[in-house]
Amino acid sequence: MSILLTGGLGYIGSHTAVELLSAGYDVVVVDNLSNSDLSVKDRIAQIVSSTRKIGEDNFKVYVGDVRDENLLNKVFSQNKIDAVVHFAGLKAVGESTKKPIEYYDNNLISTLKLLEVMRKFNVKNFVFSSSATVYGQAKSMPIYEDFPVGATNPYGRTKLFIEEILKDLYAADNSFNIAILRYFNPIGAHDSGLIGEDPNGIPNNLFPYISRVATGKLDCLSIFGNDYNTPDGTGVRDYIHVVDLAKGHLCAIKKLEQNCGLQIYNLGTGKGYSVLDIVNAYNKVCGGKVKYKFAPRRPGDIDICYASPEKAEKELGWHAERDLENMCKTGYNFECKKQK
Ligand code: NAD
Ligand code: UD1
Repeated sequence: MSILLTGGLGYIGSHTAVELLSAGYDVVVVDNLSNSDLSVKDRIAQIVSSTRKIGEDNFKVYVGDVRDENLLNKVFSQNKIDAVVHFAGLKAVGESTKKPIEYYDNNLISTLKLLEVMRKFNVKNFVFSSSATVYGQAKSMPIYEDFPVGATNPYGRTKLFIEEILKDLYAADNSFNIAILRYFNPIGAHDSGLIGEDPNGIPNNLFPYISRVATGKLDCLSIFGNDYNTPDGTGVRDYIHVVDLAKGHLCAIKKLEQNCGLQIYNLGTGKGYSVLDIVNAYNKVCGGKVKYKFAPRRPGDIDICYASPEKAEKELGWHAERDLENMCKTGYNFECKKQK
């Protein structure tokens, strides 16, 4: 079976490519390199080559934009695609408030073009990368898939709009099988240290920021708020190892093969950790190099957010296996290797 990964050279896409190739799937990637590097292709191949011979017949990368219909026509003509996982998109919340047109254009148009070409080539199995951000500030924890949704920024709204588009598409044509995956907070890196999260510039998210403080690239972490309604006053999130998350995509693809219709799944661990929990766990791994200070709350942040992963466990047979120590170890290993 051949799976198309849009954005397959990015953080989550690259880990998913490794898991799919290792499980015997063929992988085709379309990525415009707006937030990734072509060298990731070789690193994916390097990781997988210990278990499987990798070549153009089972792993192909097209450098180009998902909004380019001619490119999509070429990709679907040249490859017999069985299912698509749509990772490609812009994902920075803060940036989306400053560049809403770019966010709506990239995230919405890419999805519409992709679905149009899929329909033309009669490819009807689709996995979509959504986000826990669609829940906004939930009224209670843990968060279940049927909780009310509502976004507070353009990035989140692109995810919500796409979810609505997918529901309309499925209502019009129920031969589609669609898995909407709402990711919580992916962190960590592959055990090899060859792939991981490497944002450009100063990271907005907690984990890559901590990694750079731990390796001396940044001075000190600012913890945004210590007066939240949480046990230690700092924000609580559901951090999930990116390899566990990647494995969730394999389970979702298997589910599509059973003609599941449209399904929504939370991919999280069900556990909440505070910012201080993360700092303390990371410090155990790196020898106490993460300095921090308390700073004012970041606008738009919520107290607490963690998933109920029950539906994914029950229907996909998937649950996260790696603990916080492993998330920190693999993240630190990746960050250290990057220096060389
Ligand atoms: P990423 O930026 O590392 O990967 C996205 C990839 O898509 C990049 O390689 C980028 O070059 C590519 N891309 C972007 N626009 C494109 C386009 N128009 N055409 C072709 N390629 C394009 O991000 P990620 O963390 O791997 O996230 C993957 C998906 O998961 C995104 O849709 C993101 O919104 C969603 N998501 C991520 C998180 C997270 O914390 N990382 C959480 C929830 C949801
Ligand atoms: C953010 C996005 C969310 C996206 C998710 C994964 C926002 C408001 N939300 O979630 O839409 O799905 O990333 O990409 O950006 N923190 C610090 N210091 C820092 C950075 C973060 O204390 O330098 C704290 C935050 O206040 C929060 C926690 O760490 O309590 C996690 O923050 P972050 O990693 O940015 O993720 P989210 O805000 O949960």
